[in-house]
Amino acid sequence: MSTGAIGVDIGGSGIKAGVVDTRRGELVGERLRVPTPKPAVPETVVAATAELIADLGPDAGPVGIGVPGAIVGGRVMTAANIDESWLGVQASEAFSAAVGRPCVVLNDADAAGLAEMRFGEGRRAKGVVLVLTLGTGIGSALFVDGQLVPSTELGHIEIRGKDGERRASAGARERKGLSFARWAPLLNEYLHRVDQLVWPDLVILGGGISRKADKFLPLLDVRPPVVAAALRNQAGIVGAAVRARELLAAPRRRTARRTTRGATRAAPGRAGSAR
Ligand code: BGC
Repeated sequence: MSTGAIGVDIGGSGIKAGVVDTRRGELVGERLRVPTPKPAVPETVVAATAELIADLGPDAGPVGIGVPGAIVGGRVMTAANIDESWLGVQASEAFSAAVGRPCVVLNDADAAGLAEMRFGEGRRAKGVVLVLTLGTGIGSALFVDGQLVPSTELGHIEIRGKDGERRASAGARERKGLSFARWAPLLNEYLHRVDQLVWPDLVILGGGISRKADKFLPLLDVRPPVVAAALRNQAGIVGAAVRARELLAAPRRRTARRTTRGATRAAPGRAGSAR
């Protein structure tokens, strides 16, 4: 399938992967999952991911991998919810070497956000859209007129002297044993704070808990419209695959180059950076 790509979502408890039809934003065939190795150090996670990708087959297309950390130039810059040994690791090189073909590495929330913007609630949205994934942590993906501003890490905004995600994530709700009614004010306070810093036109809430959005959306009173994500568990896989197809399978463009006589001549272009 010429629009196919592999998407991988690396999480705290599981590594999930699947082949995605990137034109329709849907998984083709089954989703594979293995438990995240413990300790989740780069060597073990990279090896487990490479095995999963091999199981999906050699012809399944380019590979995109979402990792829960800020990623700059394929390198992991933060490790709030992953083993600290990931800090500074050139992840795209490590994954590409283990898999045996180029892999695009991006932040997990950026991947989920890309899928939501392409196929979900952000489909027709203009202006500034903020996609937040509520899980163990809070991931953020910021879009300006559909264009991703990568690795924003807005889950770590400080609130009352604490990391925002430690107070308001779905994981925090579970840890503290809070009902939705008790947790909603914490999420509300977090969203107010983010609004004052980013002023989004639309906020899309993703992560597993968005399935129960009817239990907490009505309790929020923030300025921008807040909606639940349309794509659920597979968003991270779909978005990573979409990114991989965009960056690794881009057709070689021909750009005009000026000759000494003032005429133009076609020169091969380069695929975009994997940031
Ligand atoms: C990390 C982010 C990640 C989010 C969701 C946060 O703790 O810093 O990079 O996107 O968790 O996994």
